Amino acid sequence: TWKMDAFVENSIKAIREKVGNGKVLCALSGGVDSSVAAVMLAKAVGDQLTCVFVDHGLLRKNEGDEVEEVFGPNGPYDLHFIRVNAQQRFYDKLAGVEEPERKRKIIGEEFIRVFEEEAKKIGAVDFLVQGTIYPDVVESGLGGESAVIKSHHNVGGLPDYVDFKEIIEPLRDLFKDEVRKAGLELGIPEKLVYRQPFPGPGLGIRIIGAVTPEKVKMVQEADAIYREEIAKAGIDRNIGQYFAALTNMRSVGVMGDERTYDYAIALRAVNTIDFMTAEAAEIPWEVLGIVASRIVNEVPHVNRVLYDCTGKPPATIEFE
Ligand code: XMP
Repeated sequence: TWKMDAFVENSIKAIREKVGNGKVLCALSGGVDSSVAAVMLAKAVGDQLTCVFVDHGLLRKNEGDEVEEVFGPNGPYDLHFIRVNAQQRFYDKLAGVEEPERKRKIIGEEFIRVFEEEAKKIGAVDFLVQGTIYPDVVESGLGGESAVIKSHHNVGGLPDYVDFKEIIEPLRDLFKDEVRKAGLELGIPEKLVYRQPFPGPGLGIRIIGAVTPEKVKMVQEADAIYREEIAKAGIDRNIGQYFAALTNMRSVGVMGDERTYDYAIALRAVNTIDFMTAEAAEIPWEVLGIVASRIVNEVPHVNRVLYDCTGKPPATIEFE
C-alpha cells in the first residue's frame, strides 16, 4: 500500500477542490466499488454527500443491515444516508416472470425508478458519484463479452435519470485489487472490502425461474451457510467467487418417515482471472459434506444439494 496512501490522499484533495460547496449524490449498492467510492467522498466532503441505498429484497442475508451499519447514522461517517426498503415493489414486478433477460430488465428498470424518485426528493445536485472501475471502462468501451451476453444494468444507465451537472468516478483508474487496497487505506472494514463480486440483479439471477419471497429466503439461508463454512475452513480468500443458487428443480427425498418433494440448491465456486472465463474451484469434499447436510437440515423445502463442476464457457458464473 506504499502508493495507495498517496493515491487516496490525492484523490480526497482533488475531490474536495472539485466539489467546493456543491451537493453530491451517490447510489450505494453495498458492493466493494460503490462503498469505496462513497467513503472517499464522505471523507472529502462530509455531509455534502447523500448516499441512497436501494434494498431491492434480492441482497444476501443481512446485507442491507450491514450496509446500514457502515453508512447509516450510527456509522463512522458524517453523510446523509437514505435506505429505501423497496423489497415488495421488486417482488410484485417480478411475480411470475421466468425469463432471465426479462428479470434482469425488470430489476434494472425498477432500480432506476426507485433511485430516480429519491433523487427527485433531494432535488438538483451538482455531482453524481459512480463506482466505475477500470475494467468497467474497458468492458463497456469494447462491448465486453458479459456486457453483451447479459445486460449489466449497473454499468452506465443512471445518469440520464438524475438531475446533476457532473459525474465523479474516483476509482476509474483502478483494478479490483487496487480498489480493495484503497478501501483498507480508507479504513473500511475488511468484511466489506473483501466482499465477493455480487451482481446488480442480486439473488434475482440466482433463483432460476420465477422469484418469490420464499425462494429468496431459501437461497439467502443456503448461501449464508455456504459462506460461513467456507470461511470456517479458511479458504474464503482462495476462491474467486462462490455462492448458492436455487434451481427450479424439485425432486423426491425422505425425511424421517416422510416422503418429501422439495427444491435442490446448487453450490457454485469458481476461480477466474478476469471473469470472462472461469474454472470450477475444488472445494474439499468434507467441507461440501458439511455444507450439504447443514443446508438440508436448516433450510426448509430444500432436500438436495448439488455441486456445479462446469467452467465458463460453456456455463456462465451466474445461473441466469
Ligand atoms: P457471468 O454470469 O456473466 O458473470 O459469467 C461474470 C461476472 O459478472 C458478474 N455479473 C454481474 N455484475 N451486474 C453486475 O454488476 C450484473 O448484471 C451481472 N451479471 C453478472 C458475476 O457475478 C460474475 O462475477
